[in-house]
Amino acid sequence: MTKISSVLIGFSIAFIFSCSNPNVKVSSQNEINPRVDSVLALMNLEEKIGQLNQYSLGSEFTGPGNKKGKDSIRYQQLISGQVGSVLNLLGAENTRKMQELVIEKTRLGIPLLFAYDVIHGYQTMFPVPLAESSSWNLELMQKTAKAAAAEAAASGLHWTFAPMIDVTVDARWGRVMEGAGEDPYLQAEIAKARINGFQGDDLSHNKTIAATAKHFAGYGYAESGKDYNSVNVNQYILHNHILPPFKAAAEANVASFMNAFNDINSIPATANQYLLQDILREKWNYGGVVVSDWNSIGEIVNHGVSSDLKDAAKKAILAGSEIDMEGTAYVQHLAQLVKEGEIEESVIDDAVRNVLKLKFDLGLFDDPYKYSDIQREKEIVGNLQHHELAEEIAKESIVLLKNENDLLPLKNIKNIAVIGPLAKDKDAPLGNWRAQAVANSAVSLYEGLEKTLAESTNLKYAEGVKLSIGPNNFFEELIINKEDRSGFEEAKQLASNSDLVIMALGEPAYMSGEGRSRADIGLPGLQKELLKEIHKINPNIVLVLMNGRPLELSWEDENIPAIVEAWHLGQRAGTAIAETLLGENNPSAKLTMSFPHHVGQLPIYYNHKVTGRPSTAPGQVFYTHHTDVDRSPLYPFGYGLSYSNFEYGEIELSQNSIAEDESITASIKIKNTSDIDGQEVVQLYIQDLVAEETPMIKSLKAFQKVNINAGESVEVEFIINKDLLSYYKSNGELSLEKGDFKVFIGEDSSVENHKEFKLR
Ligand code: NOJ
Repeated sequence: MTKISSVLIGFSIAFIFSCSNPNVKVSSQNEINPRVDSVLALMNLEEKIGQLNQYSLGSEFTGPGNKKGKDSIRYQQLISGQVGSVLNLLGAENTRKMQELVIEKTRLGIPLLFAYDVIHGYQTMFPVPLAESSSWNLELMQKTAKAAAAEAAASGLHWTFAPMIDVTVDARWGRVMEGAGEDPYLQAEIAKARINGFQGDDLSHNKTIAATAKHFAGYGYAESGKDYNSVNVNQYILHNHILPPFKAAAEANVASFMNAFNDINSIPATANQYLLQDILREKWNYGGVVVSDWNSIGEIVNHGVSSDLKDAAKKAILAGSEIDMEGTAYVQHLAQLVKEGEIEESVIDDAVRNVLKLKFDLGLFDDPYKYSDIQREKEIVGNLQHHELAEEIAKESIVLLKNENDLLPLKNIKNIAVIGPLAKDKDAPLGNWRAQAVANSAVSLYEGLEKTLAESTNLKYAEGVKLSIGPNNFFEELIINKEDRSGFEEAKQLASNSDLVIMALGEPAYMSGEGRSRADIGLPGLQKELLKEIHKINPNIVLVLMNGRPLELSWEDENIPAIVEAWHLGQRAGTAIAETLLGENNPSAKLTMSFPHHVGQLPIYYNHKVTGRPSTAPGQVFYTHHTDVDRSPLYPFGYGLSYSNFEYGEIELSQNSIAEDESITASIKIKNTSDIDGQEVVQLYIQDLVAEETPMIKSLKAFQKVNINAGESVEVEFIINKDLLSYYKSNGELSLEKGDFKVFIGEDSSVENHKEFKLR
């Protein structure tokens, strides 16, 4: 059989079962499975294992005359069908060339999948996901994922390793920037929005890409917030906090799951039969593909549950990790394991089916080059509409943390000083995990202010202090300036001659993200010292924070009159912040992670257990608390101010008692008592007063983001039914228990306004 005829047979068999029009959606299981089996039937064992092997490859194999790449083992594997997917190869031209190589040189010509971490944009950078989540605007988050997918797809990519849907309760963990915070319900809603944005309703469309729910599971609970650390969580936390977003992702037909680096309750997630088989496959009936994390199969050896890579390969494939990302465990050992009878070939077949199915779903068997279109790449990547969308969501992601005496929005101020290392920084707002962002391409705060301020205002700048003095990139450890105060004097001078100081402080882009855990989550380096010095001279300060995680801000909250959490807001950060400071944008975002008073409070999250010693009476000793810090967070989950003032009325319940199949309508009136139109995120929490397993103090169960014009009122209604009242018991079963519940409706998770009702 010649190579080409094999390729043709492969394709013609595939075509027999499909409609030959490539524009027709090919995604139903029934339609595809025979096509998948038709290809599988042609494959030998090595080719099957190749589909489970994923490498990170650059353009060295496709660039002109690059001998190094072409002499490598990986090149040989690539052209002999032993690589099924490629990570980190980008661009319409590069992907086309590599696809051609594989289609032409391999025996069966099975197209490659091209994957990449498109986390908050491909080239156009949207706010980092934690920031975006603060918008609570699901529609907008779906749009940004859609735009990111369009850019990525136009650059030849098929698959993103996003969204990260790990619930995160510890701000020390650097990767909190990649997710949607501490609440499982909100995380699940955002997961669905992002997945729908990436995937659309037709994966084979050339503007959509496959999404990944990651990291399955528990990665966000790394002990002491140290990345890659062990995860020890009880079954209640697993089922009620960690798993719900993943279940929602499976139900939203996310194309893939990625497992996690961590061990969870002493079993590495990558070799975890309970998670991958019992829950994902059996309970949730998930039919997509499972990819390992980067060499996480190899790391099973480091975890100490396999003595060598071969055993790690066996444990991982039997658990259900289907694609080996950068680990070489499968390509080196699976064939031998099958020959020795250690694993059945059918295990490999099942995994390969899932990979092939994804390739069919993406339309790659109909046209392997459909995503690699140089013209489309030029038109779509970084286009103006995407930048405008970045601005729109940036404005909705800014959280106003403090606004004493309505200092903001700024009015009639003559001399403004902008001080701080992030004021003119065009890079930090792009954040970490920035895919193909153009370095230094964000609108800086200073630029935003220059554009937005009236000409009559004098705007002056001083850097004040350097933030980092070492490398600032993905791969190297950042070095923070801890000694050089040479800019202090100039900044102090400027502050003393100004009516108001805008301080732009925070974290550089690479201070959060993977491998960026911090033990001290205050303002890094000498920034706080500078802030204190300036404060002594001119306390009329607006503190603008740019960071990728909740920070410890106790001193700032006590002393600075206005604080704006502006995160790493992406491409148009400066415009969004400036318009917010000047009142052209009214802030409406709410925190999705609690900000602690002190790092010693971590992990801190609103939906904790009641405990046996919940009392808060002053002077008490023997109850759940720290003696030296308030029990509550500094800023709770759901918190965020607006320039409008909202007044909540009483909660009205349609009835006070319901049977299992009934529902209650809870309604509440909210009045905008200010003269500024605004938006409010109205949040509904439920507390189960008595349950068989110790309940949470309260849990978010619904929310609505509503516009309320100045002086007007709206009535917001929520339906409470059994879905909002059940919880997972430690055995993983959903439990609905009769008894009393409280429903709270208000502006953040500290809300006390509630009514009680009974489930009969
Ligand atoms: C490791 C990260 O944990 C994961 O989230 C990412 O997708 C892979 N590297 C690939 O870059």
